[in-house]
Amino acid sequence: MKVVVVALGKIGLPLAAFAALRGHTVVGCDIDEDVVARVNAGREPFPGEAGLQDALRETVADGRLVATSDTVAAVAAGADLIMVVPPLVVDERARPAWRAVDAAVGAVAEGLRRRHAEQGTTAGPDGDPPSVVVETTMPVGSTRTRIGPRLQRDSGLREGVDFHAAHSPERVFSGRIFRDLERYPKLVGGLDATGEERTAERYRRLLGEGPDGPVEVRTLGGAEAAELTKLAETTYRDINIGFANELARHADAIGVDVEAVIDAANSQPYSHIHRPGVAVGGHCIPVYPRFYLAGDPEARLPAAARAVNASMPGYAVELLGHMLARVGPESTATPLRGQRVLVLGAAYRGGVKETAFSGVFDLCRSLRDAEAAPVVADPLYDADELDALGLPAWDGSAVEGLIVQTDHAEYRALAPDAIPGVRAVVDGRGVLDVEAWRAAGVPVRRIGRDAPRPY
Ligand SMILES: NC(=O)c1ccc[n+]([C@@H]2O[C@H](COP(=O)([O-])OP(=O)(O)OC[C@H]3O[C@@H](n4cnc5c(N)ncnc54)[C@H](O)[C@@H]3O)[C@@H](O)[C@H]2O)c1
Repeated sequence: MKVVVVALGKIGLPLAAFAALRGHTVVGCDIDEDVVARVNAGREPFPGEAGLQDALRETVADGRLVATSDTVAAVAAGADLIMVVPPLVVDERARPAWRAVDAAVGAVAEGLRRRHAEQGTTAGPDGDPPSVVVETTMPVGSTRTRIGPRLQRDSGLREGVDFHAAHSPERVFSGRIFRDLERYPKLVGGLDATGEERTAERYRRLLGEGPDGPVEVRTLGGAEAAELTKLAETTYRDINIGFANELARHADAIGVDVEAVIDAANSQPYSHIHRPGVAVGGHCIPVYPRFYLAGDPEARLPAAARAVNASMPGYAVELLGHMLARVGPESTATPLRGQRVLVLGAAYRGGVKETAFSGVFDLCRSLRDAEAAPVVADPLYDADELDALGLPAWDGSAVEGLIVQTDHAEYRALAPDAIPGVRAVVDGRGVLDVEAWRAAGVPVRRIGRDAPRPY
């Protein structure tokens, strides 16, 4: 097949390389000339994706994968499957800004228009109308009400006749994309039955054999179902974490260890409770429940889970306040007033240099609301980078309190004497060597785990 991938980011580039490894002829398109140059030099533009560098070296060298910044020309040259996966950027309230998606889809439409004008057909080598598939996660209805109409309007061609528009949510985990592409069923939803089936056939050819036989490609009976599936997966996780967080707060109130409770509950096969934590950050889990709610505003569970999860940074600050009131020279009504508190970790999760919806922002806000002075450190960010994020960098001087926000591997071995002055710790991710801290005379509380026991 001839395949075009539009947007060579953390998802699109591995997808393009995977298609090329499977023997397809692939053109990858990106508006960033630097990304295009690196790919054409066989060099990965970002680290951390298992197998990507080797795949690029192999497939670029023999011409199976070529990158370009000219999406219009790539599409006009003819393709069977056009996968579009730019980011759908959201604002602080998770409302989508469609710029990148609209621009990418517009360029594909212009390419189709040009091909049709020059060749009298939009078909690629397989002779059928090409499939244009947005893989970016979108609110339900976007393929039918936004992507399809835009493709028609900007190309002057007909959906279902000159091309098929479809949605196939990308569900892989960055870092292990090649592995996931071979294992997860690929979900496809079209705007009509023919387009959906035609697109699914192309994905079957694209993905080929996995370790357990042909990779399953599942048609879902409409783009809406495919869109909703991705929102269901992510919203389920947010709700599950929300429940774990409520359990943790209840465990704190009654003096039991939530970790032991969750492990015990999950020891039978119908219970899959996730883990509590100080914050739910990242591009997906805090965002997609809001996409879900935009389509189903009456839904109560996603809204409740969002509220519970968003309250956790404030809860961690409250815990620290109780601890400092207890161990401080005197108990006061505002135990954090004037106290310096170090937040460890700006990244939303360990080992990634990303702060999208990171808990660090709400922690700093809650600390300021409690009249404390937050400072932040992260092994992946220098002081200037923290400053650019509006986060006050820690200068290494004494602090009264500490909250662990990110599960960076470095924190497992963090020694208490590395943080001068610290009198109380809330380990929001349960990563510290708690015994070492307690042995050094510094009390530590993990969320839901360390309230005084009933016996
Ligand atoms: N990152 C993940 O873990 C993940 C997992 C599953 C699904 N997704 C989905 O994939 C989407 C993309 O995520 P990502 O992590 O690859 O993004 P990214 O930020 O790594 O890369 C985006 C790329 O798109 C390019 N781009 C932007 N506008 C373009 C345009 N008009 N034409 C061509 N290229 C353009 C950028 O230059 C950049 O190279 C997300 O919005 C999400 O829906 C991401």
